[in-house]
Formats: sequence, C-alpha cells, structure tokens
Amino acid sequence: MAYASGEQKPFTVNEFKGKKKAGIPISMITCYDYAFACIAEQSNMDTLLVGDSLGNVIAGYKTTIPVTMDQMVYHGTIVRRGAPSKFLIVDMPFMSYHVSVEDSVRNAGRIMKETEANAVKLEGGREFKHTVEAITTASIPLVGHLGLTPQSVHKLGGYSVQGREDDKRKRLLEDALILEEAGACAIVLEMVSASLAGEISKSLSIPTIGIGAGGGCDGQVLVINDMLGMNTGFTPKFAKKFTELFPVIKTALNEYDAAVKDHSFPGPENTFK
Ligand code: KIV
Repeated sequence: MAYASGEQKPFTVNEFKGKKKAGIPISMITCYDYAFACIAEQSNMDTLLVGDSLGNVIAGYKTTIPVTMDQMVYHGTIVRRGAPSKFLIVDMPFMSYHVSVEDSVRNAGRIMKETEANAVKLEGGREFKHTVEAITTASIPLVGHLGLTPQSVHKLGGYSVQGREDDKRKRLLEDALILEEAGACAIVLEMVSASLAGEISKSLSIPTIGIGAGGGCDGQVLVINDMLGMNTGFTPKFAKKFTELFPVIKTALNEYDAAVKDHSFPGPENTFK
C-alpha cells in the first residue's frame, strides 16, 4: 500500500496489542465516504471503521439489517481511497457470515481484496467461534463485536444495555474469551455496563474498543455523524457531540439560498470574464 509523504507511521494489527500492553488508548471513528476519509487521514485517529451503521446514518434505514455486501464493499473502497494510511476495518453485514463458514470466509476475503481493508468485523460470540477461526486462519484479521449487536435487534428486542443480569454477564465474558481464543485481534463492546467492560478488558490480552461501555476499555469508537453533531434526532447518552455541524451546515445553506435569490451570488470574483 502506498503512503502519502510526511504521514505518521500507519497503525498495524500488531499495534492493537502493543497499545494495550503499553496502556495507550486506541481511537476509532466510523467513516463512510471519501470526503470524511480525507479529513480523517490527516487527523490523529488510529483506526477507521466502515460500520454497517451506514445503513442508518447514510442510507436512512431504521436498522442495519438491509445493508448488503455490495454496499459495504463500495463504502470500504471509497474510504480506503481517501485514507490510504489508516488501519481500516470494514463490517461484515447481516447474513454475510450466518449461512456457512465457507460463505463467511469468501465474503471476508472479498472485503479484504476489494476494499484493501486491514481487518473485518462481525457481531456475535460463541455461535461464530468456527467462523472466526476459519476467517483468521485465512490470514484475515478480525475484530469481534459483543454486547449490543445491532444486527440482532429483532432477537434482542431493542437497543438496550446488555449483560446486566449475572448469567448474561458471565456469558458475555466467556464469549469475549472465546473470540480471543478463536483469533480475534480486538473486540468492540457496545452498550455494556462499565464494570463488565472493565472486567472483560482486564481478562483479555487483545484490546477492547468501547462504545457506550465506559472508560475501562482499551479504546473508544464513535459514529462520526453523532460526534460531529450532524443530526437533530435522538442521540444516545454515550455519543458525545464534539461539535455541532447540523446548524453550521444549515446556516451555510440558507446563506447560499439567500445570496442566489438576492443576486449577490455569483459576484464578480466568482465569474469568468
Ligand atoms: O456499525 C458500526 O458503526 C459499529 C460501531 C457502532 C461500533 O459497529
């Protein structure tokens, strides 16, 4: 892979473990298009995730379930074009790893070949042990995803904090250990109590990346549209807005609209003689 001149040393799969060992938190952000990828490329973010949350924030679906392999490959490809040096993870969408192990390896391989990602991510625990083993045996780095797994929203019955009861807490911890044993290089923990996420993080040698899982994780991930304040609807408690772009963009659109209508745009400086 080519790296543009003057860029920081790229983050590799080895750095995941290294950062955890050194106690250095890992930063991750979702990214879905070329324009934001170009900005992220020049930022200090360690890793980019082409999440299937693109189904919600880009396509406007209610869930991530309709997202297809072709859509993930398309978005993965354009993000890689804008961010050639970042450690790039691409989500495996619903039904791309549920049918058979063979099908899963083929789909993970397609993502790696066509998007030039560094790793794939899939949701679930022990039920995908053999799938994770097969994908990682094919030399494809894999990130697990436990806790709230949005592709299972209909089974879970909603988007709520996971692992609060003792038996579910025990199961989540076991699942994390099983994923590590099966070859995962990191695990995203979504909406689990901070105490459980902390316990899981201490029990693993691979890093945990939390979203709504407290500060005891080895890294944090946020959905870029949430942290940039690009929507006016419901924002989950954990999704801190680091800026508020929605009103900024709306104001710019209204100023442009007014300038067109009062003939102040285009001015002489925007016009060819
Ligand atoms: O799809 C996604 O954006 C994710 C993150 C929320 C971790 O899986």
